Amino acid sequence: MKVLVLGGDGFCGWPCAVNLAEAGHDVVIVDNLSRRKIDIDLGVESLTPIATIQDRLRAWEQVGGRAMTFVHLDIAREYDRLLELLRSERPSAIVHFAEQRAAPYSMKSSATKRYTVDNNVNGTHNLLAAIVDSGLDVHIVHLGTMGVYGYGSHRGATIPEGYLTVEVPQPDGTCFTEKILHPTDPGSVYHMTKTLDQLLFFYYNKNDAIRVTDLHQGIVWGTNTDLTQRDPRLTNRFDYDGDYGTVLNRFLMQAAIGYPLTVHGTGGQTRAFIHIRDSVRCVQLALEHPPEPGEKVKIFNQMTESHQVGELARKVAALTDAEINYLPNPRKEAIENDLIVDNRCFIELGLKPTTLDDGLLAEVVDVARRWADRCDRSKIPCLSAWTQRQAEAIKAFA
Ligand SMILES: NC(=O)c1ccc[n+]([C@@H]2O[C@H](COP(=O)([O-])OP(=O)(O)OC[C@H]3O[C@@H](n4cnc5c(N)ncnc54)[C@H](O)[C@@H]3O)[C@@H](O)[C@H]2O)c1
Repeated sequence: MKVLVLGGDGFCGWPCAVNLAEAGHDVVIVDNLSRRKIDIDLGVESLTPIATIQDRLRAWEQVGGRAMTFVHLDIAREYDRLLELLRSERPSAIVHFAEQRAAPYSMKSSATKRYTVDNNVNGTHNLLAAIVDSGLDVHIVHLGTMGVYGYGSHRGATIPEGYLTVEVPQPDGTCFTEKILHPTDPGSVYHMTKTLDQLLFFYYNKNDAIRVTDLHQGIVWGTNTDLTQRDPRLTNRFDYDGDYGTVLNRFLMQAAIGYPLTVHGTGGQTRAFIHIRDSVRCVQLALEHPPEPGEKVKIFNQMTESHQVGELARKVAALTDAEINYLPNPRKEAIENDLIVDNRCFIELGLKPTTLDDGLLAEVVDVARRWADRCDRSKIPCLSAWTQRQAEAIKAFA
């Protein structure tokens, strides 16, 4: 099938695009390369050296991959070109990764808050409006986040896959049951844009019967898949800096270079995780199992394990003899939270998770230690503070 991969030059998008091409799909990568530009603005580079998108595509063909094409387009700003692309390519499905995805970056300043909202909300809305304008029946597979449910207390309840069944009390004492979108509780401007995406999907699905699968993804760890390891020019990016690095990959890199693991607050925060190989596989499974025409938005919890951040640090420290450094938390969040997640949909579709216990050490040795000399230590601290109070605590500690 013809698939557009929006944001297909990014960390999750690139391995997904090659995987779909390998599975026999006609893949068109659409990206405005804003992520590479943000690296330049922040003065950081991926720990792994990454080739240009043109070299990636050339290398992919040279190792025998099915050719993919690339369109340089900003989905949040170039509505007419997006619509024209839909009309000319007539895709059956669109995988939507094309958003500003770092919570700390979204909280850096009013400029990055506004950019994140403009980019993410307009991008998703433009896509939906263009599909309506095009008259095509396209299945959107969107990458959302587990963070839409919030990282406060769920009082031990299991988080369902998107919808919550509630009992609504009536004045006469009776009750009726209703299935509603799980209440949202965003913890940053970035997460807030993902909760807004959810509403946009809900509305366009109801009004225009657009078929959507929204993947509430956990934090992705790891770097490469078997396909991106076929040639050095296919290597995936690895972010370790204070804005874009995600917690587990940061710990792995810190362990590899002998930098004390940066645990913020008590480390009692619980998060959901998934390996990049499983993320790629889940997107393919979602594409292969689209909602029926007229079906409401499908929501899958795309995660395989939940862990407390402090517990992860201790796991990595035990493997590598790293030290742990407890630092003031730049985020305004609960000191501890629970996160029990229902992820049956993907398991029932055949996902076989890569566990942390199986993959952690290999990642430290194969990636983090290999590229350790490319690390700029000055970019490791997380300095984006959620409020002035957190900013002052960080300053006082320094
Ligand atoms: N990485 C994670 O741990 C993680 C976890 C949960 C959810 N997600 C979601 O998955 C998606 C992809 O994340 P990622 O880690 O690959 O991020 P990324 O920043 O590496 O990739 C996003 C890509 O989209 C492109 N892009 C951004 N705005 C665009 C626009 N307006 N038009 C065209 N292209 C645009 C960027 O240039 C980049 O290549 C995001 O939506 C993110 O919220 C990621």
